[in-house]
Formats: sequence, structure tokens, C-alpha cells
Amino acid sequence: MSFGTRFARLATDVVVRRPSLWPLFRRLTERTFDRIAPQWDTMRGPDSLAPFEAALEAIEAPVTDGLDLGTGTGSGAAIVVRRFPDARVVGVDLSEEMLERARVNVPGAEFRRADASSLPFPDESFDLVSHANMIPFFDEVARVVAPGGHALFAFSNGADTPIYVPLARLRPELERRGFTDFAEVDAGRGEALLARKEQAA
Ligand SMILES: C[S@@+](CC[C@H](N)C(=O)[O-])C[C@H]1O[C@@H](n2cnc3c(N)ncnc32)[C@H](O)[C@@H]1O
Repeated sequence: MSFGTRFARLATDVVVRRPSLWPLFRRLTERTFDRIAPQWDTMRGPDSLAPFEAALEAIEAPVTDGLDLGTGTGSGAAIVVRRFPDARVVGVDLSEEMLERARVNVPGAEFRRADASSLPFPDESFDLVSHANMIPFFDEVARVVAPGGHALFAFSNGADTPIYVPLARLRPELERRGFTDFAEVDAGRGEALLARKEQAA
């Protein structure tokens, strides 16, 4: 197993358990993805976003504001733009090298450098927040998703994905923060979880 994979696994496990420890991993994560950005698109299989796409298909209501966290070179944002062509789609990443490529790859979305652990967006400002192969920061997701909106978590290679959180681990974190209507999806070689935030009473 490469250093990068071991680092991704360690960072994911620690941060999901203790989000306050994220600052220990932030700088090295950014530098690692800056370094591999030029190769990133050639490293992905053709079906790497199949679980992401399948989970997105399960959303019936139109999406008007979508946010793709840890967007990398923008492949998740591109799928959201294609599925919801009238939506404003924002992709966020720590790595400026990744974002430079995303801006070229996906002209239909806007891209911002930001940290998913502390997002520069108001409360309840998105009706979809998606993650493909990205460490989840549950408090921020719950804060920026509007009531009735969706959160999506996809992992290209299931448990073999370097950044992977078992769906059974995601569910209680989301339930505790007011998410419901869980849908688990298997597609390609991976899996995804879709959840809806409860409407305000
Ligand atoms: C494994 S890559 C996935 C990229 C893309 N979603 C895909 O599946 O092709 C993870 C991406 O998340 C970014 N990232 C990791 N932690 C982040 C954070 N806290 N905030 C924003 N971006 C982050 C990395 O820079 C990297 O581009």
C-alpha cells in the first residue's frame, strides 16, 4: 500500500472520529493533492463515479443549488451539472492545482478554494451537498444543507477506496443531525449513500 493510500486511510479514520484533529492533516492533504493533480484524471477508471451518478438519479425533486465538496478536478460537479442543468453548482477543494483543472473541465460550474471543515457559505444555502471520495465533515454538511435537501456520499471502490467511510458509519452521524430517508446504492465497483434533511416542523 502506497504512502498516499495509508495517509488517506489514517486521516479519514481519525477525522471521522475526531473532526477537531483535522488541522493535523490539512497541510499534507493539500500538498499531496497539489502534487497528484496533473495525473488525477488519468488515474480514474471510466466507472469511478458510477455510484455517485446512480445516487444522484434517485433525487426526484429539482436541485437549484448544488455543492460538491472535495471536488478535485470537478468530475462530481460535472455530473451534477448534467443531471440538473438549471442548478447553480459550486465545487470546493483545498488544492488550487486540482481546482485549476476543474475550471477547464467543467465550465458550467463555479469553483472555490475552501476547507470543507469550515465552509464560507450561509446556513441552509444548498439543496444538494455531494461528496465523491471525500472525508465528510458532518456538522458543516448539516449546517449548509437546506431542509428537504440532500447529502450524497460516494466511494468509487467501496471499502478499497483510500478515502472510505462505511455507509453504516455515515448513517448514525447523519441521523443524529436530522437526516432521514436513506438510500444505499451499489454501482460500478463502489457504493453511495443518499440522505434527505428533514423539513422544518
Ligand atoms: C480523493 S480526491 C477526490 C476528488 C473527486 N471528488 C473525485 O472523486 O474525483 C479528494 C479531494 O478532496 C480534497 N479535500 C480533502 N480534504 C478537503 C477539505 N477539508 N476541504 C476541501 N477539499 C478537501 C482534496 O484536495 C482532493 O482534491
